[in-house]
Amino acid sequence: MGRGLKNILVTGGAGFIGSNFIRYLFEKTIFSGRIINLDKLTYAGNLDNLKSIDQTYGNNGMQQYIFVRGDVTDQPLVTDIFQQYEIDTVVHFAAESHVDRSINSARPFVETNITGTLTLLECAYAVWGDRDDVLFHHISTDEVYGSLGAEGYFYEETPYAPRNPYAASKAASDHMVMAFHHTHHLPITLSNCSNNYGPYQFPEKLIPLMILKMQQQEKLPIYGDGKQIRDWLYVEDHCHAIWLIINDGKVGRTYNIGGENEWSNIDLLHQLITLFATETATPSQTLQKNITHITDRKGHDRRYAINCDRIKSELKWFPKTTFEEGLLKTVRWYLTHPQWIKRVQSGAYQQWLESHYTL
Ligand code: NAD
Ligand code: TYD
Repeated sequence: MGRGLKNILVTGGAGFIGSNFIRYLFEKTIFSGRIINLDKLTYAGNLDNLKSIDQTYGNNGMQQYIFVRGDVTDQPLVTDIFQQYEIDTVVHFAAESHVDRSINSARPFVETNITGTLTLLECAYAVWGDRDDVLFHHISTDEVYGSLGAEGYFYEETPYAPRNPYAASKAASDHMVMAFHHTHHLPITLSNCSNNYGPYQFPEKLIPLMILKMQQQEKLPIYGDGKQIRDWLYVEDHCHAIWLIINDGKVGRTYNIGGENEWSNIDLLHQLITLFATETATPSQTLQKNITHITDRKGHDRRYAINCDRIKSELKWFPKTTFEEGLLKTVRWYLTHPQWIKRVQSGAYQQWLESHYTL
């Protein structure tokens, strides 16, 4: 395989995709180096996601996993991490990631997503200089391309047209990553993916939110008519794509990653209800009755759809997991992890933090 990855700085590794990625690297690949996970542990960061990884690969185990609580905007800290751990690869997940929150308050999105990315780029350039045996991989979203009508797809060449503050902040960060490549020749790769789903997703996003509400027999809130369309990507397929890119992706290149799996929100919910009803022996009519159409999200993008021919042809990646399989795995994961849910819902997953770490 391509690059000899030794010391990977993963930012935002305690979040949904980041924690799945760290687990994927240790458990499903030949990676034998070290991972340094830099995470601020915002409401979306949860060290419960990595307990077993820490036990096996952390300080008391194989010493390949190191957690650092900190902010990606903290230049001295980030520089110190690059130097102390001889970082050769960055996989940058850390972000404020929820569109609804960005509608209510955009500033933290500018701070973490834009300033944070700039800080990482500056530190990488300051420490790495002209080295070409290193890589900065930036994780981004298909939302930077805007919203589609009934036809068409987002291609890597599609002009950026972000329409909500989250998407705008991610677009700005993508431009900064590209700018550091063109200006300073920093070796970068970039990926823009569609909606991820799977284990460990914070229950503010559609799929885990609905599963938890079904369990608790609550109303199932659908924004507007529910006919907005998203493409859904199983998180492990996404992790596989990132692994291929950081090993063999072409420097300076963007890769679109999608599940080739478009669903309207309302159809997705019906599918989820059917699965959940079967798994829990709940009458599906009881769940159906709880579907409630509520006021639409402001500026709600109508459709996202990805063309991922580039990564398929260049890196031989394809989304392996069918939606039925992925949804079933996801429902089963939430049904068999009541303790994780309890600690997230009660806030206990964060209560102990202040006594252990200071920022
Ligand atoms: P998440 O919200 O679950 O996790 C984000 C993580 O970043 C958390 O652990 C949080 O504590 C950490 N973080 C936030 N601010 C930080 C800061 N200033 N310094 C250090 N750490 C900080 O997000 P996710 O769903 O895992 O998304 C990861 C990345 O993938 C993001 O960049 C997001 O934009 C992108 N993405 C996500 C999706 C999706 O469907 N979830 C789709 C496309 C792109
Ligand atoms: P979300 O999971 O927030 O991801 P994104 O906004 O990044 O696509 O939402 C996915 C879709 O589900 C989006 O069209 C908004 C819709 N949605 C609802 O209808 N109800 C909800 O309670 C939530 C959280 C989302």
